[in-house]
Amino acid sequence: MRLGVLVSGTGTLLEALMADGLDVVLVAVDRPCRAAEVAAAAGVAVASVERDSFGADFDREAYTARVVEALRRAEVDLVAIAGFGTVLSPPFVDAFEGRVLNTHPSLLPAFPGWRAVEAALEAGAEVTGCTVHVVTAEVDAGPVLAQEAVSIEAGDTVESLHERIKTVERRLYPATIRQYVEARVA
Ligand code: GRF
Repeated sequence: MRLGVLVSGTGTLLEALMADGLDVVLVAVDRPCRAAEVAAAAGVAVASVERDSFGADFDREAYTARVVEALRRAEVDLVAIAGFGTVLSPPFVDAFEGRVLNTHPSLLPAFPGWRAVEAALEAGAEVTGCTVHVVTAEVDAGPVLAQEAVSIEAGDTVESLHERIKTVERRLYPATIRQYVEARVA
């Protein structure tokens, strides 16, 4: 199962996927980031599909086509989103229907969106967590494959809480991808 990974950030989840032995054949990034260096250092091909704009003039359709093209060229079977800061338009999900997974740092459907960790803290929640799900056209709403709770401690900051959630994600995401692949192959 040839895996393509979409990332924008530090790439610690990407490192966990590679450490698990998943066959990562392409890492696509939307901006310069540590994740690209992680991939290159591991000898994995990097597609730098950099956004030309973060403003209102961003052409999401054209950008999505570039990402799909990079994934197709690498003959990717499955796509794992691991902290990717660009919402792709529906042709992406159409191109890889049922073959795109995401991990999100909350117990969906609670706290969807990019600021999920902040939102849980601001809401005064006692528990949050992470969710691995199949990606559908609606953001953070596809079928849930796995969830794990993380309790919010007194004095938690966005950083401390997110790091505890990511510790769980680094274990749960590769294990869930593996199960998903095995179930599909069977
Ligand atoms: C993870 O919490 C993921 O759920 C979120 O971005 C984070 C990526 O972490 N969407 P890292 O950059 O791989 O450390």
